[in-house]
Parts: sequence; C-alpha cells; structure tokens
Amino acid sequence: MRTVRLHAGKGDIFVKRIPVIIDTDPGIDDAVALLLALASPELDVLAITAVSGNVPLERTLANALIVRERSGFTGVPVYAGCSRPLLRAPEYAACHGADGLGGMGGDGAAPLSRGAEEEHAVRFLIRVLHEAARGERPRVTLCPLAPLTNIALALIQAPDIVNGIERIVLMGGAFAEQGNASPCAEFNILSDPHAAQVVFSCGAPLVIAPLDLTRKALATSERLAGIRAAGNPVAEFAADLLTAGRDIGSLPGGGGVPLHDPAVFGWLLHPEYFSGREGYVAVECASERCMGYTMVDWFGQTGQPSNALVLTDLDADAFFADLTERLRAYGRNDA
Ligand code: BDR
Ligand code: CA
Repeated sequence: MRTVRLHAGKGDIFVKRIPVIIDTDPGIDDAVALLLALASPELDVLAITAVSGNVPLERTLANALIVRERSGFTGVPVYAGCSRPLLRAPEYAACHGADGLGGMGGDGAAPLSRGAEEEHAVRFLIRVLHEAARGERPRVTLCPLAPLTNIALALIQAPDIVNGIERIVLMGGAFAEQGNASPCAEFNILSDPHAAQVVFSCGAPLVIAPLDLTRKALATSERLAGIRAAGNPVAEFAADLLTAGRDIGSLPGGGGVPLHDPAVFGWLLHPEYFSGREGYVAVECASERCMGYTMVDWFGQTGQPSNALVLTDLDADAFFADLTERLRAYGRNDA
C-alpha cells in the first residue's frame, strides 16, 4: 500500500493510502463524491468506472470526464462500463436534470485534455482485482455509487476476483426508510436488483450507506454557503451542482439535497463520524411490487451470517465541515 505525506502542525505524518475504484453514474451527488475522493490524499483513486444509471451511459461517462477535468486530477483513468442493467430495462433519474449534472454538463462535448480509456470497465475491474488477488498489488476497496451492473458482471465473469477486494463500500438501499424510486426501493438497487444481489452475496465485506443514513446528510442553505465560501472554482462548482439539485427538487421533505454518494467517502475517511449495525442483507428480485427491497436480518432469523455493516447515523456537521475543508484544498497549490 502506498503512503502519502500529510502536513501536520508539528511536522509531517505519513499515512497509508487506501486504493479505491469508484463505480459511478454522475449524477449531481456522484460529482460531489468524485471531487471529495480526488481531493483526499488518504485515498489512492486507481480509476473511475462509469455505468448507466441516473442518465444513459454516454452521459455518465461524459460527466465523469467533465468532473475529472474540473478537478485537475486528469491522471486518474476513466473507463466506460455497462449501458444497461442485467435484466431490467433502464430507468433514469429525472432529479439530476437531463444532462445528469443539473444543467452544468453542457452538451457533454466540451474539449477535454484526456478522454476515456479503451478497455471496458468490467475487463479493467477483472484485470486489477486479479492482480490484487495474486498479491501483485494491495487489495482494492470498491466504491460503487450507482447501479451495481459493472461490479456484478465482473463477479459473474470472474468470481475469484473477490479475493482481490478489500471491501465494498456502497451507496444504496433503504431499510427503515421508504425508498426513493418506489415505496420499497432505493434508486441504485431498484435500477439493477439482480446485480445488487450478486454483489451482496459475493462474500466480500460490505459497508452500506442507505437512504436511512444519507437523508440525514442534507446540504442545507447554510452548509451550501460554507462550501461556496471555500472560494475556489472547484468548490463553487460543487456548490452550483448542489444548488441545481435543490432547485430541480429531488427531495421529499425538503431541507436540502441529501449527499448520498459522498457519504461513502465520508465513512472511508472518518468512520468515527458514523454509526451502524451488522446484519445479513439481501435484495428482493421476485415480487414486482417489492422489487429492489433491501431486507436486513438483524437477529439471525434467516440463519445467514451477517454480510454487511449498515450505516444508519452520522455526525452531519462534522461530515460537512470535513467535506468543505477538502474542497477548500483545491484552491491551494499542493491540492
Ligand atoms: C442514489 O441514486 C442516485 O440518483 C444518486 O446518485 C445516488 O447514487 C440515491 O438513491
Ligand atoms: Ca449515484
């Protein structure tokens, strides 16, 4: 595992970097999550893989490239993945706007200093995770922020890649909370429930950031103003994205856009801000009415061992303060 030098008050400290691959469908909150991850020296972002989700694949790929370009971290490769779910027809999410970035993505054809890689995202995942499984590189933490099609297809093609996965920290599901894509289901899981079940049953340790958690991480007007006041073009871009998300009106209940996808990196960077509970999680794939429902067994009633840490609460003020600080770093030379 590579190390990174962090500047501390009384000298430098060295920390291990966590190698991560981000699977994403930008998406307003995905975009903010990417900016957060790329700005975090504790994370070694090996790649960004795009998948169909909030908007079609052509657009999630274009948006991933736009966000990478705006961040300045153009050394991080971007791969195109699957253009539809395993079995179901794609259903997109209107709350991100037609371009997926609340109107800030333009026509997706703006000039870029670097395009996408030629290799397919699924082949890339298999290649890198095989290297990790063989001990040629450290095991990788997968960070899915989207329907789980790419990850599931990689696991179906090459089940032994599970040995190269350190853990999977994902945004998805709704437990005590009502869903946002149906009364029973959250968007990422309902979009590709079969893929989600493949991933949930693969044997890798899971950390799940569901709506129960992310609806407590609201970008209130005050928090948005704090991000904007960080005063550099990337922080302003993040504030514009979240303002656009608020104005499109994605939320039942109001109070600000929930930072669904950034919560994944919030947990990786500061697990002490979060609390949750271990349980056995599985996805409903048979009933059309309950399709994508994430069932959790806290009490061992199914006889299945726990497969996930389900996050249920966070210190939202601390999370936003940390996010704001990391976005502020884009204004510094060494960011
Ligand atoms: C999830 O669905 C998408 O619309 C968001 O980007 C997030 O990943 C929230 O349910
Ligand atoms: Ca997403």
